[in-house]
Amino acid sequence: MMVHMRAIGYDRYGPPDVLRVEDVPIPAPAAGQVLVRVAATSINLSDWECLRGTPAYARIGGLRTPARRTLGSDIAGVVEAVGSGVTRFRPGDEVYGDNLGLKGGFAEYALAPESVLAPKPAGLSFAEASTIPQAGPIALQGVAGAGPGSRVLINGAGGGSGTFAIQLAKSQGAHVTGVDNAAKLDYMRSLGVDEVIDYRADDFTRHGPYDLILDLVAHRSVFAYRRALAPGGRYRCVGGPVPTVLRVLTLGWVVGRLSGRRIGVLGVRPGPDRFGPIADRCLAGEVEIRIDRTFALEETPEALAYVGAGRALGKVVVSPAAGRDPAAGATGV
Ligand SMILES: NC(=O)c1ccc[n+]([C@@H]2O[C@H](COP(=O)([O-])OP(=O)(O)OC[C@H]3O[C@@H](n4cnc5c(N)ncnc54)[C@H](OP(=O)(O)O)[C@@H]3O)[C@@H](O)[C@H]2O)c1
Repeated sequence: MMVHMRAIGYDRYGPPDVLRVEDVPIPAPAAGQVLVRVAATSINLSDWECLRGTPAYARIGGLRTPARRTLGSDIAGVVEAVGSGVTRFRPGDEVYGDNLGLKGGFAEYALAPESVLAPKPAGLSFAEASTIPQAGPIALQGVAGAGPGSRVLINGAGGGSGTFAIQLAKSQGAHVTGVDNAAKLDYMRSLGVDEVIDYRADDFTRHGPYDLILDLVAHRSVFAYRRALAPGGRYRCVGGPVPTVLRVLTLGWVVGRLSGRRIGVLGVRPGPDRFGPIADRCLAGEVEIRIDRTFALEETPEALAYVGAGRALGKVVVSPAAGRDPAAGATGV
Protein backbone atom coordinates (compact mmCIF):
# COMPACT_ATOMS: atom_id res chain seq x y z
CA MET A 1 0.00 0.00 0.00
CA MET A 2 1.12 3.58 -0.70
CA VAL A 3 2.20 5.57 2.34
CA HIS A 4 1.42 9.03 0.97
CA MET A 5 -1.70 10.46 -0.62
CA ARG A 6 -2.95 13.60 -2.28
CA ALA A 7 -5.24 15.69 -0.10
CA ILE A 8 -6.72 19.16 -0.54
CA GLY A 9 -5.59 21.14 2.50
CA TYR A 10 -6.14 24.62 3.89
CA ASP A 11 -4.86 26.37 6.98
CA ARG A 12 -6.85 29.60 6.95
CA TYR A 13 -10.44 30.55 6.20
CA GLY A 14 -10.98 32.23 2.87
CA PRO A 15 -11.99 31.81 -0.78
CA PRO A 16 -11.32 28.58 -2.71
CA ASP A 17 -7.81 29.72 -3.65
CA VAL A 18 -6.63 29.14 -0.05
CA LEU A 19 -6.89 25.42 -0.89
CA ARG A 20 -3.70 23.55 -1.82
CA VAL A 21 -2.96 20.09 -3.19
CA GLU A 22 -0.76 18.46 -0.54
CA ASP A 23 1.20 15.25 -0.30
CA VAL A 24 0.50 13.86 3.18
CA PRO A 25 0.86 10.52 4.99
CA ILE A 26 -2.11 8.19 4.72
CA PRO A 27 -3.58 8.12 8.23
CA ALA A 28 -3.98 4.87 10.16
CA PRO A 29 -7.42 4.07 11.58
CA ALA A 30 -7.71 4.34 15.36
CA ALA A 31 -10.06 2.15 17.38
CA GLY A 32 -13.57 2.28 15.93
CA GLN A 33 -12.39 4.01 12.75
CA VAL A 34 -12.42 2.95 9.12
CA LEU A 35 -9.91 4.07 6.49
CA VAL A 36 -11.84 4.66 3.25
CA ARG A 37 -10.21 4.87 -0.18
CA VAL A 38 -12.32 7.72 -1.47
CA ALA A 39 -14.06 7.28 -4.81
CA ALA A 40 -16.38 10.29 -4.63
CA THR A 41 -17.20 13.15 -2.26
CA SER A 42 -20.14 15.45 -2.89
CA ILE A 43 -20.06 19.13 -1.95
CA ASN A 44 -22.51 20.50 0.60
CA LEU A 45 -23.10 24.05 1.74
CA SER A 46 -21.42 23.00 5.01
CA ASP A 47 -18.13 22.61 3.04
CA TRP A 48 -18.46 26.13 1.69
CA GLU A 49 -19.26 27.44 5.20
CA CYS A 50 -16.23 25.68 6.73
CA LEU A 51 -14.01 26.99 3.90
CA ARG A 52 -15.12 30.59 4.45
CA GLY A 53 -15.44 30.30 8.25
CA THR A 54 -18.93 31.78 8.14
CA PRO A 55 -21.58 31.50 9.63
CA ALA A 56 -19.80 31.44 13.00
CA TYR A 57 -20.85 27.85 13.74
CA ALA A 58 -18.54 26.82 10.90
CA ARG A 59 -15.62 27.77 13.23
CA ILE A 60 -16.61 25.36 16.01
CA GLY A 61 -13.34 23.79 17.17
CA GLY A 62 -11.24 26.23 15.12
CA LEU A 63 -11.97 29.85 15.91
CA ARG A 64 -8.96 31.41 14.12
CA THR A 65 -7.76 28.59 11.91
CA PRO A 66 -9.71 25.61 10.55
CA ALA A 67 -10.13 22.66 12.91
CA ARG A 68 -9.72 20.22 10.03
CA ARG A 69 -7.12 20.60 7.30
CA THR A 70 -9.18 18.79 4.69
CA LEU A 71 -12.87 19.38 3.99
CA GLY A 72 -15.39 16.98 2.48
CA SER A 73 -18.09 15.20 4.52
CA ASP A 74 -20.18 13.14 2.12
CA ILE A 75 -17.86 10.32 1.18
CA ALA A 76 -18.27 7.13 -0.82
CA GLY A 77 -15.49 4.64 -1.38
CA VAL A 78 -13.90 1.32 -0.53
CA VAL A 79 -12.71 0.22 2.90
CA GLU A 80 -8.92 0.05 2.89
CA ALA A 81 -8.32 -0.83 6.56
CA VAL A 82 -10.19 -0.92 9.85
CA GLY A 83 -9.18 -0.04 13.41
CA SER A 84 -9.63 -2.30 16.41
CA GLY A 85 -13.21 -2.93 17.47
CA VAL A 86 -14.69 -2.34 14.01
CA THR A 87 -17.13 -5.18 13.37
CA ARG A 88 -19.42 -4.04 10.53
CA PHE A 89 -16.84 -3.51 7.78
CA ARG A 90 -13.73 -5.11 6.38
CA PRO A 91 -11.27 -4.20 3.62
CA GLY A 92 -12.88 -4.23 0.20
CA ASP A 93 -16.38 -3.26 1.36
CA GLU A 94 -18.04 -0.42 -0.54
CA VAL A 95 -19.34 2.21 1.89
CA TYR A 96 -20.78 5.72 2.04
CA GLY A 97 -21.69 8.18 4.78
CA ASP A 98 -21.75 11.71 6.17
CA ASN A 99 -18.39 12.24 7.88
CA LEU A 100 -19.25 15.73 9.15
CA GLY A 101 -17.21 15.29 12.35
CA LEU A 102 -13.86 14.30 10.82
CA LYS A 103 -14.39 15.39 7.18
CA GLY A 104 -11.34 14.70 4.97
CA GLY A 105 -13.21 13.57 1.85
CA PHE A 106 -11.29 15.82 -0.55
CA ALA A 107 -8.39 13.37 -0.47
CA GLU A 108 -7.51 9.93 -1.73
CA TYR A 109 -8.14 8.38 1.71
CA ALA A 110 -10.31 9.49 4.63
CA LEU A 111 -10.81 8.29 8.18
CA ALA A 112 -14.39 7.90 9.38
CA PRO A 113 -15.99 6.49 12.52
CA GLU A 114 -17.60 3.14 11.79
CA SER A 115 -20.93 4.52 13.03
CA VAL A 116 -21.33 7.10 10.21
CA LEU A 117 -20.90 4.57 7.39
CA ALA A 118 -23.29 2.20 5.67
CA PRO A 119 -22.75 -0.40 2.95
CA LYS A 120 -23.11 1.30 -0.46
CA PRO A 121 -26.08 -0.13 -2.36
CA ALA A 122 -24.86 -1.91 -5.49
CA GLY A 123 -27.48 -0.05 -7.54
CA LEU A 124 -25.87 3.34 -6.88
CA SER A 125 -22.56 4.52 -8.29
CA PHE A 126 -20.05 6.00 -5.84
CA ALA A 127 -20.85 9.48 -7.14
CA GLU A 128 -24.59 8.94 -6.72
CA ALA A 129 -24.19 7.49 -3.23
CA SER A 130 -22.06 10.46 -2.15
CA THR A 131 -24.92 12.87 -2.84
CA ILE A 132 -27.26 11.37 -0.25
CA PRO A 133 -25.89 11.14 3.33
CA GLN A 134 -26.03 14.82 4.38
CA ALA A 135 -28.67 16.30 2.08
CA GLY A 136 -31.03 13.32 2.33
CA PRO A 137 -31.76 13.47 6.07
CA ILE A 138 -32.10 17.28 5.97
CA ALA A 139 -34.72 16.92 3.23
CA LEU A 140 -36.53 13.96 4.77
CA GLN A 141 -36.81 15.50 8.23
CA GLY A 142 -37.39 18.97 6.80
CA VAL A 143 -40.57 18.06 4.94
CA ALA A 144 -41.84 15.49 7.45
CA GLY A 145 -45.51 16.15 8.12
CA ALA A 146 -46.21 17.77 4.73
CA GLY A 147 -49.33 15.97 3.60
CA PRO A 148 -51.71 16.05 0.64
CA GLY A 149 -52.70 19.60 -0.22
CA SER A 150 -50.44 21.25 2.32
CA ARG A 151 -48.72 24.40 1.11
CA VAL A 152 -44.98 23.93 1.45
CA LEU A 153 -42.31 26.53 0.76
CA ILE A 154 -38.66 25.51 0.53
CA ASN A 155 -36.18 28.37 0.73
CA GLY A 156 -32.91 27.45 -1.01
CA ALA A 157 -34.76 24.70 -2.89
CA GLY A 158 -32.38 24.66 -5.86
CA GLY A 159 -29.48 23.20 -3.83
CA GLY A 160 -28.55 19.71 -2.67
CA SER A 161 -31.04 19.28 0.18
CA GLY A 162 -33.70 21.18 -1.75
CA THR A 163 -33.44 18.81 -4.71
CA PHE A 164 -34.49 15.94 -2.47
CA ALA A 165 -36.93 18.03 -0.40
CA ILE A 166 -38.91 19.16 -3.46
CA GLN A 167 -39.31 15.60 -4.69
CA LEU A 168 -40.24 14.24 -1.25
CA ALA A 169 -42.80 16.97 -0.56
CA LYS A 170 -44.35 16.44 -4.00
CA SER A 171 -44.52 12.67 -3.44
CA GLN A 172 -46.35 13.39 -0.17
CA GLY A 173 -48.97 15.33 -2.14
CA ALA A 174 -47.98 18.85 -1.11
CA HIS A 175 -48.22 22.00 -3.21
CA VAL A 176 -44.59 23.15 -3.31
CA THR A 177 -43.06 26.58 -3.84
CA GLY A 178 -39.31 26.69 -4.39
CA VAL A 179 -37.17 29.75 -3.73
CA ASP A 180 -33.69 30.17 -5.21
CA ASN A 181 -31.72 32.32 -7.64
CA ALA A 182 -33.06 32.98 -11.14
CA ALA A 183 -30.66 30.52 -12.78
CA LYS A 184 -32.17 27.68 -10.77
CA LEU A 185 -35.87 28.32 -11.40
CA ASP A 186 -36.12 25.98 -14.40
CA TYR A 187 -34.07 23.41 -12.52
CA MET A 188 -36.61 23.48 -9.66
CA ARG A 189 -39.46 23.21 -12.17
CA SER A 190 -37.82 20.12 -13.65
CA LEU A 191 -38.01 18.55 -10.18
CA GLY A 192 -41.77 19.11 -10.07
CA VAL A 193 -42.09 22.29 -8.04
CA ASP A 194 -45.45 24.06 -8.50
CA GLU A 195 -44.30 27.64 -8.07
CA VAL A 196 -40.95 29.39 -8.06
CA ILE A 197 -39.64 32.59 -6.51
CA ASP A 198 -36.32 34.27 -7.36
CA TYR A 199 -34.87 35.31 -3.99
CA ARG A 200 -32.87 38.16 -5.53
CA ALA A 201 -35.98 39.74 -7.06
CA ASP A 202 -38.74 38.86 -4.62
CA ASP A 203 -39.37 38.32 -0.91
CA PHE A 204 -41.04 34.98 -0.22
CA THR A 205 -42.31 36.13 3.17
CA ARG A 206 -44.68 38.46 1.31
CA HIS A 207 -46.29 35.44 -0.38
CA GLY A 208 -48.25 32.57 1.09
CA PRO A 209 -49.49 31.78 3.61
CA TYR A 210 -47.75 28.42 3.88
CA ASP A 211 -48.41 25.45 6.15
CA LEU A 212 -44.76 24.45 6.21
CA ILE A 213 -41.63 26.46 5.47
CA LEU A 214 -38.33 24.61 5.25
CA ASP A 215 -35.57 27.23 5.29
CA LEU A 216 -32.18 25.94 4.17
CA VAL A 217 -30.57 29.41 4.28
CA ALA A 218 -32.34 31.53 6.92
CA HIS A 219 -31.84 35.26 6.38
CA ARG A 220 -35.12 36.91 7.37
CA SER A 221 -36.68 38.16 10.59
CA VAL A 222 -38.87 36.07 12.84
CA PHE A 223 -41.76 38.46 12.13
CA ALA A 224 -41.37 37.95 8.39
CA TYR A 225 -41.53 34.19 8.88
CA ARG A 226 -44.59 34.55 11.07
CA ARG A 227 -46.27 36.64 8.34
CA ALA A 228 -45.70 33.91 5.75
CA LEU A 229 -47.16 31.13 7.91
CA ALA A 230 -50.79 30.06 7.92
CA PRO A 231 -52.44 29.62 11.34
CA GLY A 232 -51.13 26.34 12.74
CA GLY A 233 -48.26 26.46 10.26
CA ARG A 234 -44.69 25.53 10.96
CA TYR A 235 -41.34 27.14 10.09
CA ARG A 236 -38.08 25.16 10.38
CA CYS A 237 -34.60 26.37 9.51
CA VAL A 238 -31.47 24.23 9.33
CA GLY A 239 -28.78 26.83 8.78
CA GLY A 240 -28.01 30.50 8.22
CA PRO A 241 -26.24 33.38 9.99
CA VAL A 242 -25.90 32.68 13.71
CA PRO A 243 -27.84 35.81 14.84
CA THR A 244 -30.78 34.76 12.64
CA VAL A 245 -30.71 31.18 13.90
CA LEU A 246 -30.50 32.37 17.53
CA ARG A 247 -33.45 34.72 17.02
CA VAL A 248 -35.46 31.85 15.54
CA LEU A 249 -34.58 29.68 18.56
CA THR A 250 -35.58 32.31 21.12
CA LEU A 251 -37.90 35.01 19.79
CA GLY A 252 -39.25 32.65 17.15
CA TRP A 253 -40.43 30.21 19.76
CA VAL A 254 -42.28 32.97 21.64
CA VAL A 255 -43.77 34.61 18.53
CA GLY A 256 -44.87 31.22 17.26
CA ARG A 257 -46.55 30.23 20.51
CA LEU A 258 -48.34 33.58 20.80
CA SER A 259 -49.65 33.43 17.24
CA GLY A 260 -50.66 29.77 17.05
CA ARG A 261 -47.74 28.84 14.79
CA ARG A 262 -44.47 26.99 15.34
CA ILE A 263 -41.18 28.69 14.50
CA GLY A 264 -37.98 26.82 15.27
CA VAL A 265 -34.68 25.28 14.26
CA LEU A 266 -34.59 21.74 12.97
CA GLY A 267 -31.81 19.75 14.63
CA VAL A 268 -31.20 17.28 11.83
CA ARG A 269 -30.50 13.73 13.00
CA PRO A 270 -27.75 12.30 10.78
CA GLY A 271 -26.48 8.77 10.22
CA PRO A 272 -27.11 5.58 8.25
CA ASP A 273 -30.57 5.01 9.75
CA ARG A 274 -31.60 8.43 8.42
CA PHE A 275 -30.02 8.42 4.96
CA GLY A 276 -30.74 4.75 4.21
CA PRO A 277 -34.45 5.41 3.57
CA ILE A 278 -33.60 8.11 1.00
CA ALA A 279 -31.19 5.78 -0.77
CA ASP A 280 -33.98 3.20 -0.90
CA ARG A 281 -36.29 5.75 -2.51
CA CYS A 282 -33.60 6.60 -5.07
CA LEU A 283 -33.05 2.92 -5.86
CA ALA A 284 -36.80 2.46 -6.29
CA GLY A 285 -36.83 5.30 -8.83
CA GLU A 286 -39.12 7.44 -6.64
CA VAL A 287 -36.51 10.12 -5.98
CA GLU A 288 -34.02 11.26 -8.59
CA ILE A 289 -30.37 12.03 -7.92
CA ARG A 290 -29.15 15.03 -9.92
CA ILE A 291 -25.42 15.41 -10.46
CA ASP A 292 -24.36 18.54 -12.30
CA ARG A 293 -20.61 17.93 -12.62
CA THR A 294 -17.83 15.72 -11.37
CA PHE A 295 -14.44 17.35 -10.80
CA ALA A 296 -11.02 15.71 -10.35
CA LEU A 297 -9.49 15.93 -6.87
CA GLU A 298 -6.98 18.60 -7.95
CA GLU A 299 -9.92 20.67 -9.18
CA THR A 300 -11.56 20.85 -5.72
CA PRO A 301 -11.01 24.66 -5.55
CA GLU A 302 -12.78 25.06 -8.93
CA ALA A 303 -15.55 22.72 -7.75
CA LEU A 304 -16.13 24.77 -4.59
CA ALA A 305 -15.94 28.03 -6.55
CA TYR A 306 -18.53 26.67 -8.99
CA VAL A 307 -20.91 25.87 -6.12
CA GLY A 308 -20.12 29.13 -4.32
CA ALA A 309 -20.91 31.14 -7.44
CA GLY A 310 -24.44 29.71 -7.46
CA ARG A 311 -23.99 27.94 -10.79
CA ALA A 312 -24.55 24.31 -9.80
CA LEU A 313 -27.74 22.72 -11.04
CA GLY A 314 -27.67 19.58 -8.91
CA LYS A 315 -24.91 18.09 -6.85
CA VAL A 316 -21.24 18.69 -7.55
CA VAL A 317 -18.96 15.73 -6.90
CA VAL A 318 -15.19 15.53 -6.46
CA SER A 319 -13.49 12.27 -7.37
CA PRO A 320 -9.84 11.19 -7.11
CA ALA A 321 -10.65 8.81 -9.98
CA ALA A 322 -12.12 11.45 -12.32
CA GLY A 323 -10.06 12.07 -15.42
CA ARG A 324 -7.66 9.22 -14.63
CA ASP A 325 -6.79 6.28 -16.82
CA PRO A 326 -8.98 3.40 -15.53
CA ALA A 327 -6.03 1.11 -16.16
CA ALA A 328 -4.20 2.98 -13.38
CA GLY A 329 -6.41 1.17 -10.90
CA ALA A 330 -8.43 4.07 -9.58
CA THR A 331 -11.87 3.29 -8.20
CA GLY A 332 -14.51 3.94 -10.86
CA VAL A 333 -17.18 6.49 -9.99
N1 LIG B 1 -28.84 21.12 11.02
C1 LIG B 1 -27.88 20.28 10.63
O1 LIG B 1 -27.60 19.32 11.30
C2 LIG B 1 -27.16 20.55 9.33
C3 LIG B 1 -26.13 19.70 8.90
C4 LIG B 1 -25.50 20.00 7.70
C5 LIG B 1 -25.88 21.11 6.95
N2 LIG B 1 -26.87 21.93 7.43
C6 LIG B 1 -27.35 23.11 6.70
O2 LIG B 1 -28.20 22.67 5.68
C7 LIG B 1 -28.37 23.75 4.77
C8 LIG B 1 -28.57 23.27 3.34
O3 LIG B 1 -27.39 22.83 2.76
P1 LIG B 1 -27.29 22.35 1.24
O4 LIG B 1 -26.01 21.60 1.17
O5 LIG B 1 -28.55 21.76 0.75
O6 LIG B 1 -27.13 23.77 0.52
P2 LIG B 1 -26.89 24.12 -1.03
O7 LIG B 1 -26.81 22.88 -1.85
O8 LIG B 1 -25.76 25.09 -1.12
O9 LIG B 1 -28.24 24.87 -1.37
C9 LIG B 1 -28.58 26.09 -0.82
C10 LIG B 1 -29.32 26.87 -1.88
O10 LIG B 1 -29.82 28.07 -1.29
C11 LIG B 1 -29.64 29.12 -2.21
N3 LIG B 1 -29.61 30.41 -1.52
C12 LIG B 1 -28.54 31.13 -1.09
N4 LIG B 1 -28.95 32.24 -0.49
C13 LIG B 1 -30.29 32.26 -0.55
C14 LIG B 1 -31.29 33.16 -0.11
N5 LIG B 1 -30.98 34.30 0.51
N6 LIG B 1 -32.56 32.84 -0.33
C15 LIG B 1 -32.91 31.71 -0.97
N7 LIG B 1 -32.01 30.80 -1.42
C16 LIG B 1 -30.71 31.08 -1.21
C17 LIG B 1 -28.34 28.79 -2.88
O11 LIG B 1 -28.26 29.50 -4.09
P3 LIG B 1 -26.99 30.39 -4.49
O12 LIG B 1 -26.25 29.46 -5.36
O13 LIG B 1 -27.58 31.56 -5.17
O14 LIG B 1 -26.22 30.74 -3.27
C18 LIG B 1 -28.46 27.28 -3.06
O15 LIG B 1 -29.10 26.94 -4.26
C19 LIG B 1 -27.19 24.69 5.02
O16 LIG B 1 -27.69 25.86 5.66
C20 LIG B 1 -26.31 23.92 6.00
O17 LIG B 1 -25.64 24.78 6.90
C21 LIG B 1 -27.52 21.64 8.59
